[in-house]
Amino acid sequence: MVLGIETSCDETAAAVVSRGETILSNVVWSQVAIHHPYGGVVPELASRKHLEKIVPVVEEAIDHAGVNSNRLDGVAVTCGPGLVGALLVGASFAKAYAYARGLPLTGVNHLEGHVAAVYMERPPPPFPFVALLASGGHTNLYYVKGRSHFELMGQTRDDAAGEAFDKVAKLLGLGYPGGAVIDRLSRGGDPERIHFPRALLDKTSFDFSFSGIKTAVARYVAKEQEAGSASLEDVAAGFQEAVVDVLVQKAFRAAEKKRCETLALVGGVAANSRLRFRIKEEANHFGISVHIPGPELCTDNAAMIAAMGFWHLSRGENSPLDLDVYSKKPSL
Ligand code: KG4
Ligand code: ZN
Repeated sequence: MVLGIETSCDETAAAVVSRGETILSNVVWSQVAIHHPYGGVVPELASRKHLEKIVPVVEEAIDHAGVNSNRLDGVAVTCGPGLVGALLVGASFAKAYAYARGLPLTGVNHLEGHVAAVYMERPPPPFPFVALLASGGHTNLYYVKGRSHFELMGQTRDDAAGEAFDKVAKLLGLGYPGGAVIDRLSRGGDPERIHFPRALLDKTSFDFSFSGIKTAVARYVAKEQEAGSASLEDVAAGFQEAVVDVLVQKAFRAAEKKRCETLALVGGVAANSRLRFRIKEEANHFGISVHIPGPELCTDNAAMIAAMGFWHLSRGENSPLDLDVYSKKPSL
């Protein structure tokens, strides 16, 4: 049984997971209300809030799991990439907790954690599989050959998909974070009415680019505001459809290139209802099996960190107590 801790951005999260697959508790304390007035995450405020919440959140996770904390077998903590000050809170807590209880500690890469969310689904995907990881900080396509064996096939050259959702929501006056709001609003809009550009780059590349679409939406809104006829729902739906089109096309092209019949969709943007629908629809069409964690396991959580931590610990990959955090890492 592994205690997982996640504090890489604006969620203070702790979870207890058994054998890397069964969630006994999964507590997420969201700081959204704190960062909302600023239109984005304020790193210093995030660190301070993590510091305040980490103890009650861990206590709640252990309590919800309904197990005696003496029965824990290890502690897993996100050590990057993310906001360094925020990561330090989780890492310092995890080290102290593990040391005081004589438990093994393991540092987990946040992106590896996002992919591990799919190992908790029944059935989990067989290896190898192609994984599309779309979050607020990353849009990566991987060929996953084993739990810690990733081949990076493509990544964004500028904004991440989630970042595009957040920036467009901000310019539409929808507040922060934008993904879920655009998702909801789009249900009342026509995705075909406004055609925003699809940046597919060249056909052979698996890289993404999402900065252009944000500018296209800004231009459209400025023009339409003068005309006074823009429907917010149609703009949201048109934007969402353009992003989803690119993600879906590249993911299936990557699977085709690898002659791989299994696809996984992970990361915060994988919570998007239209993306989930389109990926499943396309998968049926091509006879590909698609694995998508439940929405609460797509956005940041500590269950995915505990799950990956279990696999590290079961291979003896313990981290020393001088484990450091990092904001960026080129590998994975
Ligand atoms: O994985 P995540 O929780 O944190 C990072 O690792 O970045 O992803 C957060 C991102 C945000 O940009 C948020 O707007 C986006 O995921 N997101 C969504 C939805 N829910 C969250 N994007 C589109 N539709 C959603 N339903
Ligand atoms: Zn994340």
